[in-house]
Amino acid sequence: MTFEEMWRELTPVGRAASGGYHRQPFTAAERECHAWFLAQCAARGLAVRTDGSGNVVAWWRPDGSAGPGVVTGSHLDSVRDGGAYDGPLGVVSALAAIDRLRERGFTPARPIGVAVFVEEEGSRFGTACLGSRLATGLLTPEAARELRDRDGVWLADAMAEHGLAPVASDLLDDVATFVELHVEQGRALVDRDAAIGVASGIWPHGRYRFDFAGVADHAGTTRMEDRRDPMLTASMTVLAANKQARLHGARATFGRIEVTPNGTNAVPSQVSAWLDARAESGDALETLVAAIAQQARDRAGRDGTECTVTPESVTPAVRFDPDLAGLLATGHADGDWPVLPTQAGHDAGVLALAGIPTAMLFVRNPTGVSHSPAEHAEMADCLAGVAALADTLERLAGP
Ligand code: GLV
Ligand code: MN
Ligand code: MN
Repeated sequence: MTFEEMWRELTPVGRAASGGYHRQPFTAAERECHAWFLAQCAARGLAVRTDGSGNVVAWWRPDGSAGPGVVTGSHLDSVRDGGAYDGPLGVVSALAAIDRLRERGFTPARPIGVAVFVEEEGSRFGTACLGSRLATGLLTPEAARELRDRDGVWLADAMAEHGLAPVASDLLDDVATFVELHVEQGRALVDRDAAIGVASGIWPHGRYRFDFAGVADHAGTTRMEDRRDPMLTASMTVLAANKQARLHGARATFGRIEVTPNGTNAVPSQVSAWLDARAESGDALETLVAAIAQQARDRAGRDGTECTVTPESVTPAVRFDPDLAGLLATGHADGDWPVLPTQAGHDAGVLALAGIPTAMLFVRNPTGVSHSPAEHAEMADCLAGVAALADTLERLAGP
């Protein structure tokens, strides 16, 4: 099955009327994507290993290949109302790259694997790269068991519905090198007129829950000067985050908010809002979040409310193996591939933090838009990505 045929099969799964994707982990749509992936692996005769948490590595181990392997792949879950490419592009490209290598008659000296990690986006349980964190041991099963989705469903219960559980894993023990192909989530490749790029590193980033507590009261009868309205404190904090990010050359977003009791004619008792913050260095990220939290607390003092800040998922700076990045980027007939940093988190970053030599390939995104139904890559660039990945695997797994 060609890349285009695989892409056409996967495209309708979990797509909403908006054109956006809802492939939250351990839901029917995301499980359908996984089942599709397993069927593709079976059709290719790949040996599938699944760990207890639902992460998969499907191995091509032809006779003569030995030792720890070269693994590529990505994830199949999406953000809420996300795009088609973030995650699945890396998985489908991995299968297509193996097909190309076989067509070429290439016999790897090292096994080649295709990985799929669960809950990369943290869109349901709040922890980014949950599956790869469990698989690498960067998240303990005990900590994972504390996680609940926004409806109060425990991670362990959501997994149990599919015969899974948050557990430690040896799935990555025989991985020598990991390469993740991903749609670019910015315009750096467009600006450089390049179809393919290589990642140098990932900005440190984190998610922080801001809880603003106030006092519920009547929206009509409570005088303005008598209110203790947490919505005011939250609103000012959203503006402060935007301003501080601009001042620090960083990124700060409040993309999620919950209001209690969420009624039109009541001053709310509680507002919870989630900050996503990213900066070029760990120190810059700390300074940014501290500045936003300080402004939130100052404002809470004036509003008669209270503000508490809880980090929920923080990832330090990632520097991908520079020798590996250099190897991937150079020696091509049509010129070097640009090497660039990214502000987006990836399972590859988690594997790199766990000490596995890791690299990333980016495929040009004509608008740069991502985490949106408008996310796109041209088919010609997707196919250039498959070719780039096949060449990369040949270099890394060759004799
Ligand atoms: C994942 O895509 C992230 O950067 O949030
Ligand atoms: Mn992704
Ligand atoms: Mn993403």
